[in-house]
Amino acid sequence: MKTLVVYTSQTGFTKKYAQWLSERMSADLFDVKDVQKKESSFFDAYEAIVYAGWFMAGKVVKANWFLDRAKDWKDKHLAVVAVGAGPVGDPHAETALKNLLTDEQRTYIKTFYCQGGINYEKMNLPSRLVMKAFANSLKKSKDEKQREMGAAYDHSFDSSDVKYIQPVVDYIQA
Ligand SMILES: Cc1cc2nc3c(=O)[nH]c(=O)nc-3n(C[C@H](O)[C@H](O)[C@H](O)COP(=O)(O)O)c2cc1C
Repeated sequence: MKTLVVYTSQTGFTKKYAQWLSERMSADLFDVKDVQKKESSFFDAYEAIVYAGWFMAGKVVKANWFLDRAKDWKDKHLAVVAVGAGPVGDPHAETALKNLLTDEQRTYIKTFYCQGGINYEKMNLPSRLVMKAFANSLKKSKDEKQREMGAAYDHSFDSSDVKYIQPVVDYIQA
């Protein structure tokens, strides 16, 4: 199946997942900024299109670009892959993905979540300040799990794992 993977990434985790997906599925790979202005004919040749974006405050960055275009791609296999700092199965990520799509969009787009990590060294300054403030607020939570998460988010970590792409590959290639 001729497949396209489009991604956006600030610190590299989503790019790594997009690369893994494109390698596994022999798919073409583009940064969204290199395809977002392309004519619709550019996408005609693809039977499957995956959009991978990172989670920022519960939203998948640049997902609207994909969702707008996807209205014309209902005959293709379509997936959104969100990459965030939280663990797979985190209710926060599940709620955010549920809220990303309307009921109608859910009939032709499937969503997936892959854990990335945090890389303070590669973040821009506003992102670093927001993330540090978020970690500090979690550390003050009454809930022990939240406090643990706050401690984890206080420094860089990499929890990305190629195994998380398997459900996406299975869905696209079904
Ligand atoms: C401003 C900001 C907001 C974030 N919000 C979330 C969030 O809501 N949920 C989450 O799981 N991760 C969140 N993250 C963490 C990133 O999604 C995570 O670091 C991701 O791996 C970054 O991907 P990238 O390396 O492709 O940029 C946030 C990060 C920043 C900088």
